[in-house]
Amino acid sequence: MLSFWALTALLAVAAWIWLRLKGPRSRLPPDLRGPTPASWILGNQPEVVLSEAGEANRRWKAQYGAVYKYYGCFGDEYLVLNDANAVQHVLKGQTTSYLLDKSLREFLRLVTGEGLIWADEADHARQRRLLSPAFNTPFIKSLAPTFAACAFRLVTQWNQRIETEGDDKGGWDVEAYHWMELLTMESLGLTAFGVKFGSLEGNQHPLQTAYTGLIGSAYSHPSKLSIALGAAVLHIPAFIVHHLQKLPLPGISKFKEAQRVGRKFADELMAKKRRLLETNHVLQDRDFITVLVQAGEKNQKGKLESMPDEEIYNNLTTFWVAGFETATNASSFALIELARNPDMQQRLASELIGILGGAADRDLSDGFSTDEVEQMPYLEAVVNETLRCHGPIHSGLFRAAGDDLIPLSNPITTRDGKLNSIRVQAGQSIICSFDGCNRWEEVWGPDADQFRPERWLRAEAKEIEPDKQCGGVYANLATFGGGPKACIGYRFAVLEVSVFIAAIIRDFEIALSRPDWELGRDGSYIGTIPMERGRWQGGGRCPLRVRRRRSVM
Ligand code: HEM
Repeated sequence: MLSFWALTALLAVAAWIWLRLKGPRSRLPPDLRGPTPASWILGNQPEVVLSEAGEANRRWKAQYGAVYKYYGCFGDEYLVLNDANAVQHVLKGQTTSYLLDKSLREFLRLVTGEGLIWADEADHARQRRLLSPAFNTPFIKSLAPTFAACAFRLVTQWNQRIETEGDDKGGWDVEAYHWMELLTMESLGLTAFGVKFGSLEGNQHPLQTAYTGLIGSAYSHPSKLSIALGAAVLHIPAFIVHHLQKLPLPGISKFKEAQRVGRKFADELMAKKRRLLETNHVLQDRDFITVLVQAGEKNQKGKLESMPDEEIYNNLTTFWVAGFETATNASSFALIELARNPDMQQRLASELIGILGGAADRDLSDGFSTDEVEQMPYLEAVVNETLRCHGPIHSGLFRAAGDDLIPLSNPITTRDGKLNSIRVQAGQSIICSFDGCNRWEEVWGPDADQFRPERWLRAEAKEIEPDKQCGGVYANLATFGGGPKACIGYRFAVLEVSVFIAAIIRDFEIALSRPDWELGRDGSYIGTIPMERGRWQGGGRCPLRVRRRRSVM
């Protein structure tokens, strides 16, 4: 059988010949500055993909300014935006003026089905309205006890391991990245499907098996061949990508099998909930399926129309793909920063014990509330600073639907003079650097590159001049994007990560398990993943030495 990659390689060769015949076509102002490509096939892409998250951008930004161009594979030109006004303009134009690349969108259909990330224009607006009850503030706030009870199950497991596997000083070495994966998975299982997987206790639920195959750090530090093949995907016409899904290719079959298992499981749950609704039950369970089968909007005849089961399912998959690895990475980065900064950890622990009580006074098996989380400004500061410095998605890729003029906060210098705005033509690929916006010195100060939660305790952090706002949906950070396609799960994610960190730091003192361990931020494509610098093939890492927290001064 022809493998997925062999077929991609074949199509890549066809795309290469076609592009060569077509010749280079630049859509950007010719005087816009940027790095020289190493070759036509790979362009500057290896520098972007193989350096740490946002690193190439930081280097080029310092050299060419906040707006520049670089070359991807096969002569593709990318316009990179680090400028707040420009990023805000593109984010606001999503679903109309700035869209997902068509071929990429077809691949997305394979992974998530036709859910919210995939949807554009009117269909996107309709789905977003129908999904909103699952993401409104009161519903999300009500999830804190679920997240906290889940985190307490992790705390219980760690306490048992300290007991059985710890050293004579009460220390136990743990690869916490793996545990953060289990914890995020368990919370998504409970909040999306209302199902307890039991993965923290070592069980393997069929739904968990099905979904685990969908995600992962598979794209970390790819070979140059993989970089070229990955880029070729963007040159395969969307209709061919669409038909590829019907072929029995191994990579595709994996997605299809996951969809089949997940779908069967969700269908049974949805059918059960719909039967209960028909007999006038009001369902109280706090999970997305329950909320979504009960939600709907009135059609023109005044009849309530709820989201079809197919769409609910596609969106559950979408939430899984969008919310699993991102929240795992954010929580792991927060733990790593606290392990590296004992003073910050101590300050946080004092705040947590002041509000939640210590481990000896209060068992958190029933969780704790959002009200309690909201009484902890230093916890908020630690989480915000993690999302600023280590945003799990470092950039977004967009495609201009038509010709446009993008306004800039600060003029840029080109080879021929200064520009206050930048003209783009239909089809232009644009990268908004979320990491670049989050580290902009004019907003975050000269120490913008440093992890310093204290900056969030000053009122100024929340008052940014309009011309310096990047349009981010949360805390003037670009981390969750902005505009009509801003992350719908941002409240969920911020609360979830805050609760996880609170539960762990209240009960454990953490340090890095190896003093020589160096944090590397893998930035292959759009995700930022904590790894060991130089050992990229090892996947996500958060190596901790944990001990029961004894006393807090
Ligand atoms: C720290 C964790 C997370 C980060 C950093 C993150 C970041 C993002 C970003 C950057 C986008 C694209 C925004 C844009 O284009 O303007 C996005 C979209 C999205 N996210 Fe998140 N996300 C996180 C967690 C979650 C969670 C937990 C869920 C669901 C439970 C979720 C669901 C979604 C969905 C459905 C979209 C597509 C929205 C649309 O197209 O309308 N995300 N996210």
